[in-house]
Amino acid sequence: MLLQILRTYLRPYKREIGYVMGLQLVATIASLSLPSLNADIIDKGVVLGDTAYIMRMGGWMLGVTVLQIACTIAAVYLGARSAMAFGRDVRSGFFRQVASFSSREVGKFGAPSLITRNTNDVQQVQMLVMLGFTLMVSAPITMVGGVIMALREDVGLSWLVAAAVPVLVAATGFIISRMVPGFRRMQRYLDDVNRVMREQITGIRVIRAFVREPHESGRFGAANDDLSDVSIDVGRWMSAMFPTVMFVMNASSVAVLWFGGIRIDEGLMQIGALTAFITYLVQILMAVMMSTFMLVMVPRASVSADRIGEVLGTSSSVVPPEEGITEVNTRGGLEFREVGFTYAGAEHPVLCDVNFSAAAGQTTAIIGSTGAGKSTLLNLIPRLFDVSEGTITVDGVDVRDFDPEALWQRIGLVPQKAYLFSGTIASNLRYGKPDATEEEMWEALEIAQATDFVSAMSDGLDSDVAQGGTNLSGGQRQRIAIARAIIRQPEVYLFDDSFSALDVATDARLRQALRPVTRDATVLIVAQRVFTITEADQIVVLEDGDVVGLGSHDELLTTCPTYQEIVESQLKAEAS
Ligand code: GTP
Ligand code: MG
Repeated sequence: MLLQILRTYLRPYKREIGYVMGLQLVATIASLSLPSLNADIIDKGVVLGDTAYIMRMGGWMLGVTVLQIACTIAAVYLGARSAMAFGRDVRSGFFRQVASFSSREVGKFGAPSLITRNTNDVQQVQMLVMLGFTLMVSAPITMVGGVIMALREDVGLSWLVAAAVPVLVAATGFIISRMVPGFRRMQRYLDDVNRVMREQITGIRVIRAFVREPHESGRFGAANDDLSDVSIDVGRWMSAMFPTVMFVMNASSVAVLWFGGIRIDEGLMQIGALTAFITYLVQILMAVMMSTFMLVMVPRASVSADRIGEVLGTSSSVVPPEEGITEVNTRGGLEFREVGFTYAGAEHPVLCDVNFSAAAGQTTAIIGSTGAGKSTLLNLIPRLFDVSEGTITVDGVDVRDFDPEALWQRIGLVPQKAYLFSGTIASNLRYGKPDATEEEMWEALEIAQATDFVSAMSDGLDSDVAQGGTNLSGGQRQRIAIARAIIRQPEVYLFDDSFSALDVATDARLRQALRPVTRDATVLIVAQRVFTITEADQIVVLEDGDVVGLGSHDELLTTCPTYQEIVESQLKAEAS
């Protein structure tokens, strides 16, 4: 998966990556030549007292250093830019994929996990890419080139390189192998912390009301402790890394000095060669350490890549048609034909064999006890889910054959849980119609009985709305959501229990105002209160997903026992 993601998302940056590699190559060669120049200065210049030679070679060294610095800066700059662009592309690809998901797929991963995947997991892969840019060229060349250069200085000490490298590899390899399982757990615990935190922020009012704060704090504490425990575990090994590496490096430097000193005594080696040898050895060990370090990141990044790939590889269960229908000339209303629906993983169908049709200009009410499947029925129309059986048609066209935009354009949905976006009242209304004028907005608010409180707000249409609309009351939120649907002037209105938070008088006024607007539209109203729907052209009575009654209020009163029960219970409640 890691390779696949890298291949796909790095392809656009091939050229930049080429430049980075080239620059790194030059910088590495430059840094490899420095110790040897230095050795020449000591052995041929300082020892013989040749100042001109020292100046000349010193100038060379300065030039090489400047070249190395320039190349490194350019390579790091370009590399970082490409790595960041890579991260951005993965995130946007991920986002587009998630946006295409139906509620089913979002539910499968869970929102918190999707967020972690698109932020932290992408970052892990991005870090690997960045490190890869720096090391891919420089590490192997330093290792091979360093060995060659060291041998050129002195063959007699080469056994020290042969001894130090395996020791370093073994030591760092051991430490890293201890850290890898921790990395895997870390990503999972990060998900947990995010999930608990999110749940608590969203549910903070409920938590307070039920005095569950100690319990919730405990739950967060547990997730947080898990994460910190595993981080500390990993950190402990990580902290052992640096001293180990330094120990190996310094020990081998001492060994070089020791054995080199003996060779210099015997006249087999020069002092400059010795210093150069030490520098090469350190360069080689450095490269080895960095490569092992990069190898650590590979398993971690591949865990993350798997998590990203899982999402990228999931296709939505609601697939838009290849060539969706955009234009329909007839206004045929809405029809349910033998519709059945089962939630993924659920044993029993939520809806079975639902049949009814609603013509343009008609109002259809849906009533039934909680959990009867009313919201589910409504959500099938804009394809938040796809039906398991049967068909739903809008204007005589199967909703699955519509171009999604064209379908949604025809539908004005007021969901049961009125959700508003952070922004202003106006920006929320413009979700319904992007080019709505102020007059249109006020008109829609007027119908939705929202003028009073919106004009009472300090900035009117430009008043702030918090995320989720939490700075408005439930009823206010519902009315804004209704206005958002009205402003769109759709062919099909879907009101999912949208009047429940309104008081009886407002409810009546709202329905009165709606009537002229929805004269030519198909209206579906899910309602709890019977009197909200007595005037509906037809009423669908749902019970456990089955249609047990279909007809007008008066018809149902005589034919449908379930409906009679509902009416009676509400009358009784009113009387008492
Ligand atoms: P109220 O809004 O309370 O009046 O109920 P409703 O008639 O709108 O019920 P809804 O359509 O929301 O749910 C019908 C049934 O489907 C219930 O038994 C739920 O438990 C079930 N259900 C709803 N949403 C989901 C879901 O996302 N997954 C699963 N597996 N079941 C669901
Ligand atoms: Mg519902």
